[in-house]
Amino acid sequence: MKDIVIKPARNLVGSIRLPGDKSISHRYAMLAALAQGTTRLRNFSSGADCASTLGCLRSLEIEIVRANGEVTITGRGGELSAPRTALDCGNSGSTMRMLSGILAGQPFATEMIGDASLSRRPMRRIIEPLTQMGASISSEEGHAPLHIQGGKLQSIDYKPRVASAQVKSSLLFAGLLAEGETSVEEPVRTRDHGEVALRAFGAQISRDKNRVSIKGGQRLKAIEASVPGDISSAAFFLCAASLFPESNLVIDSLLLNPTRAVLLDVLTALGARVRMVQMEEQHGELVGTVALEAGPLKGIVLAGAQSAALIDEIPVLAAIAPYTRDGLVVHDARELRVKESDRIAAVARNLRAMGAAVTEHEDGLTVPGGQQLHGAEIDSEHDHRIAMAFSIAALRAKGETIIHGADAAQISFPEFFQMLEAVLER
Ligand code: S3P
Repeated sequence: MKDIVIKPARNLVGSIRLPGDKSISHRYAMLAALAQGTTRLRNFSSGADCASTLGCLRSLEIEIVRANGEVTITGRGGELSAPRTALDCGNSGSTMRMLSGILAGQPFATEMIGDASLSRRPMRRIIEPLTQMGASISSEEGHAPLHIQGGKLQSIDYKPRVASAQVKSSLLFAGLLAEGETSVEEPVRTRDHGEVALRAFGAQISRDKNRVSIKGGQRLKAIEASVPGDISSAAFFLCAASLFPESNLVIDSLLLNPTRAVLLDVLTALGARVRMVQMEEQHGELVGTVALEAGPLKGIVLAGAQSAALIDEIPVLAAIAPYTRDGLVVHDARELRVKESDRIAAVARNLRAMGAAVTEHEDGLTVPGGQQLHGAEIDSEHDHRIAMAFSIAALRAKGETIIHGADAAQISFPEFFQMLEAVLER
């Protein structure tokens, strides 16, 4: 475990471009493996999670070359080979849940394993529907390791109880391999990268409100793409810039898909000035340049669909909330308890360590505004978003902060600390 010391900063000024979005990188890699031909991906996510996906695909005998800033993946038109060893998904829930949908449709057995955190995360949400489709999956009471015996799948019409884009993508990928038309109806709308990526690779998908459908047996074609910058990684910089009245931050080639860009609305509602320019569509994904200048930060209440859409950004929003005037209230974010760590508990504990008052709810938290934090020892709990969120809180604290387990940032954003230092003024 590596420690990093974060000193308070005076300002944040700079122009950056971020490594490719994690959600899109996973999906492009998996679909490239199913497609016919060689897919070329520039700006693929540099995080360990997406490397776990590539590692699993290599074990399924998909040829992958990573060189000169490009990942090339040669699909075999839907054919994969039985792996010789267990597929190691590392810390990546996306890898385990989405790849399960593909493995459910293969004529062989696979074992999927993960690290301690991933082995604690709920998998029944994919086991149940994939079993209904015809796969046979055993687990440790709903947790990894998963043993998947795939085979011929039947389509399904499914309403997941939890709002999860990973579950939706997993079932659409399985639906692609199934007989008939598979539909997934979400309780609230989640990120739509699975649908967008399937279309980019040539599949037809239909949508009616929150219900998405795919016909089985469609063939995918390889693509050439540049993965848009990760907006969940951008969140740390955008929130940091919001803390300094004189700040000026520009992020280009950033993913602006409306199902992911809710943070920009929230920062605007809080009082930051956010501009979006040079917007264009790339393989169905909206991409553009974002410029942010800080303004006095008010407060905000998040609930319902907004909490679901911001699920990965809530830790950093909570980490800057003490510095706002009116604070932050979050409800309907129960899913945070089953992420890489219990993020509600981890955020509350670490905010308290920095001297903040905070109330934990079963489905969220309340962080009052108008609080000055002091430097403290932060425990990342091996969770990348906790390590990065508290590095941002530390920028306006009194005194130095030590982030224990700062190397967790490798999971989604290995360049984080270096890029942050490059835009800070002290
Ligand atoms: C993701 C969906 C979300 C999110 C995760 C990535 C995805 O998880 O928290 O970081 O790429 O589909 P859930 O599907 O569990 O909500």
